[in-house]
Amino acid sequence: MSATTKPSPYFQIGDRVQLTDAKGKMHTITLQPNQEWHTHNGWLVHNEVIGKPEGSVVETTGGLKFLAFKPLLTDYVLSMPRGATIVYPKDAAMIVGMADVAPGVRVLEAGVGSGALSISLLRAVGSEGRVDSFERRDEFADIARKNVSHYFKALPENWSLTVGSVQDHPHTTKYDRVILDMLAPWECVEMASEVLEPGGVFLSYVATTTQLSATAEAIKESANFTEPESSETIVRGWHHEGLAVRPQHRMIGHTGFLIFARRLAPGTIAPARRRRPSKGAYGLKEEEA
Ligand SMILES: C[S@@+](CC[C@H](N)C(=O)[O-])C[C@H]1O[C@@H](n2cnc3c(N)ncnc32)[C@H](O)[C@@H]1O
Repeated sequence: MSATTKPSPYFQIGDRVQLTDAKGKMHTITLQPNQEWHTHNGWLVHNEVIGKPEGSVVETTGGLKFLAFKPLLTDYVLSMPRGATIVYPKDAAMIVGMADVAPGVRVLEAGVGSGALSISLLRAVGSEGRVDSFERRDEFADIARKNVSHYFKALPENWSLTVGSVQDHPHTTKYDRVILDMLAPWECVEMASEVLEPGGVFLSYVATTTQLSATAEAIKESANFTEPESSETIVRGWHHEGLAVRPQHRMIGHTGFLIFARRLAPGTIAPARRRRPSKGAYGLKEEEA
């Protein structure tokens, strides 16, 4: 699938197919002519899946039944080989939304890790946009390259992957968005302020509050950005069975925080925010507060 190809609802040669059995266990196969997929109870002939619509039930020679769908992006990234930890789909969706990564946008991304976020960014910018990604570690870049090209069935022409530290690269291009997922994004704030167009978005994903604090302070110190805004996305699944409708007992409690700021026009000094001291502010006597 290219970043713009309209998907067909019918299975074709080369498609990945996610097969789910009655217990919910999933297997993924890639359709090839005259191939078989063997199970503990017979085999599935690929030719019998090719041409069927998604959402069909397919059966092995031993009578095992599977529901067949093409994997969604979420299914793909959660099951693809990993080097570094990936950005989870809930966070990738928020990054694309909050940073307004839209068709035609030019994105500078680092670090690439396993390439999960790169795929979301490439899909969002479409064929008119561009994603230039940087990854410090060769072995992770290799994994990401494979994951991205496997997903799009070829390396996207509007994607570059450079091995090295993003802040050490002599950037000659301007970008609309700088999206970071790395240990020390605060080291990249100055670089981001140089490459971003006025109004461009800086957005970083960080795992801990100490990283969040260091990044926020670097953004404020740079004075080239709006006040940083931070958030985390908590998604809680729900169980529904008759009247037993309640939150699921298990959830992913924490993945990371997002910190966001916009590049000011060169030379702009943003009007200082006027805040009234809060009750618990340091240095205030109790009676003054
Ligand atoms: C958590 S992983 C990124 C995962 C990725 N976003 C994904 O969704 O698959 C962080 C990566 O940042 C890379 N990295 C750290 N600092 C970097 C820098 N300054 N420039 C480029 N890559 C960097 C690390 O090598 C690591 O692979």
